[in-house]
Amino acid sequence: MRLPIVTQQHAPQLLRKRLLVRPAGRSMTSPWLNIPLAEYEGHMSLPGIGQARMLSDHFAEILAEYSPGSVAVIGCAGGNGLDRIRPETTTRIVTIDINPDYLRVLASRFTHRLPGLEPYVADVEVSLPAVEPVELVYAALLFEYVAPAPTFRNLAVLCRPRGSLVTVVQLPAGSLAPVSPSPYTSLNALAAVMRLIAPEVLVRHAAEAGFVLSSTRQVVLPSGKRFLAQVFSRSPDEHAPQATGVDGATLAVAGA
Ligand SMILES: C[S@@+](CC[C@H](N)C(=O)[O-])C[C@H]1O[C@@H](n2cnc3c(N)ncnc32)[C@H](O)[C@@H]1O
Repeated sequence: MRLPIVTQQHAPQLLRKRLLVRPAGRSMTSPWLNIPLAEYEGHMSLPGIGQARMLSDHFAEILAEYSPGSVAVIGCAGGNGLDRIRPETTTRIVTIDINPDYLRVLASRFTHRLPGLEPYVADVEVSLPAVEPVELVYAALLFEYVAPAPTFRNLAVLCRPRGSLVTVVQLPAGSLAPVSPSPYTSLNALAAVMRLIAPEVLVRHAAEAGFVLSSTRQVVLPSGKRFLAQVFSRSPDEHAPQATGVDGATLAVAGA
């Protein structure tokens, strides 16, 4: 079902409803727009890949450790791990992805169980919805596909002062291809755009946006693929770096 598109001027009224925000002003050429969710999720759940379970377990550990009242999941796809949220503890759940189809499925899966769900379509490099900042921002396997500097600037605005940002990035693993071979052929398009980002480069960009590294943890899967989770604390300074953009978006109301 197509969502009705409305304009930014309606935002104040619509912010009380469930929104999807579609970025404007940049050509939407991301290969993620052409990857069906079923193929992405099928790939991540393949026994030889096992990344969906690893990411969901890691998110659950972070939720248990921080018990955030509000969380934002960036590059959320179809909501892997959202079933681990306790709605009585985490009452606001902002989910952001560039692919509106992913958000539609996510909303249909979780709106009932998570009344505080706020799904937004946005390109995090370009602009984020102007929403109240959250206590914890979680971005797993996102920085392989986005420019770090503008993305961190935008995430800094989404994260409350003294809040936390958790990233998970893939590390080089010898001769293993960064995008694992898959029967789901639409994922082949990712190989051309995906690039591993060195953890120290991530730390440098994070620091420029006001985030300080507080802990790291490495995960190695049976396939030999390695991942690094990094937890950053947002500076207590109320004066966040300038966001790359929080306006210029077109809004679409989910479920209207
Ligand atoms: C490798 S997947 C990670 C998905 C998820 N974190 C998980 O646990 O499976 C990357 C996700 O980031 C989204 N994405 C890629 N570029 C983006 C951008 N510029 N802005 C917002 N989302 C983006 C993709 O659509 C996809 O859902």
